[in-house]
Amino acid sequence: MTALATSLTPTHLHFLEALFPGDGLVTRPEEMAVYGADSSRRSAMPWAVVRPRTEEQIVELLRWAEAERVPLVPRLRGTGMSGGAVPAFGGVVVSTLWLNRVLDIDAEDFCAEVEPGVVTAEFQALTQKRRLFYPPDPASLKISTLGGNVATCAGGMRAVKYGVTRDYVLGVRAVLPGGKICDAGGRAHKNVVGLDLTRLFVGSCGTLGIFTKLTLKLLPLPESSATVLAAFGSLHDALEGARGVFRAGILPTALEFMDATACRGIAQIKDVPWPTAPNGDTRAVLLLKIDGSASALADELARLERALSQAGPSCLLKGLGPREEEPLWEIRRLVSPAAFQLGPDKLGEDIAVPRGSTVQAVEGFQALGAEHGVHVACYGHLGDGNIHVNIIYDAQDEGQRARAKACKEAVFRLTLSLGGTISGEHGTGITKAPYVSWQLSETERALMAGIKQVFDPSGILNPGKGWV
Ligand code: MLT
Ligand code: ZN
Repeated sequence: MTALATSLTPTHLHFLEALFPGDGLVTRPEEMAVYGADSSRRSAMPWAVVRPRTEEQIVELLRWAEAERVPLVPRLRGTGMSGGAVPAFGGVVVSTLWLNRVLDIDAEDFCAEVEPGVVTAEFQALTQKRRLFYPPDPASLKISTLGGNVATCAGGMRAVKYGVTRDYVLGVRAVLPGGKICDAGGRAHKNVVGLDLTRLFVGSCGTLGIFTKLTLKLLPLPESSATVLAAFGSLHDALEGARGVFRAGILPTALEFMDATACRGIAQIKDVPWPTAPNGDTRAVLLLKIDGSASALADELARLERALSQAGPSCLLKGLGPREEEPLWEIRRLVSPAAFQLGPDKLGEDIAVPRGSTVQAVEGFQALGAEHGVHVACYGHLGDGNIHVNIIYDAQDEGQRARAKACKEAVFRLTLSLGGTISGEHGTGITKAPYVSWQLSETERALMAGIKQVFDPSGILNPGKGWV
């Protein structure tokens, strides 16, 4: 295999200038820097940034890049948490943000066709106007895009009841290295002809092709919804409360939690509705959502409150309908950025364990934090066993840096010993790439490398990311 290019030649730059006239090509470092970073807080300077407006430009780009062996790093809004969009191994960044049209929303087929650069929350607002529902709701939904969500198989709060992005992608149109177009899947909600190439693209982090169109599945919009926030004096009571909800036979739309450290972080940037010192000592919070028909909801809400009450919450707050619910969910979405109130740096993990092991996992992670002398905030998608473990430290301090890394590795070991995964929703990118072999067997990795080879024989797409 011919080696990848290690920089752009003047001839390469002339080609890019011709293909991406005007502001379609960015080469000034001060403008490019933003395209080299993502929410992992890692960054690297791209060789150049291209901003296609058409699929034809992407086809030409991939034909050229394959011939010239130039690495390409696809990206959208860069809200990924693991460095998947960072050109850490060099290359031209391809921003498909300008492909941002909603092509179709069809209430008969219950599907939509969109370009990758459509912002998730804006798309959801459009579907809601038609009384349709696109459930995936990553915390970044107000700025992240559908293309980025599909590339990372983003999760979110409503995954407990509705599943993750993967469950809503019916089809993907992608340009492959060499310029061939692959139209996988389609508008049918069921399809078992051949291997499931659509699913291969979802979560592949731009390593197999560059998306130009996505076909998404929609549901009828639930008639009504309600949110309950329950505060507890101990983490153990909160985790028991969550178990009680499932034991009562309730399937919440979302079941999120925050431990004492996460609550402390958010209280520093927002007024919080739960008791705080000196009036009370909240050590954990549960946030739950239910939805359904208006008539069924009242009944379900009463059952939910009964189930939670058995774990002895210090307060139970209710929000009925989006206007009352939204402020409670805004608090939850801000927990991740608020963790920086507790220290200048963090390792933000997103492990997932089998749902029956959540109590053991969360209590174990807190014990590991204490053992390694670092602050650990645990919060997130308790309902599906997907726990955000934020290890807070000061990267300028060598000792803290080493202890944070050791703690992260101990968190991964405990997770794997419980039958879990080192990434439930953020992907492995660059921050978790060194640990992939802790989880995947040699056989699995060899199969994945073989698949990558079929799609991208020269290895030009997002090199060095993830799983091979
Ligand atoms: C979240 O659930 O808030 C996001 O996945 C970001 C994170 O906390 O790491
Ligand atoms: Zn999350």
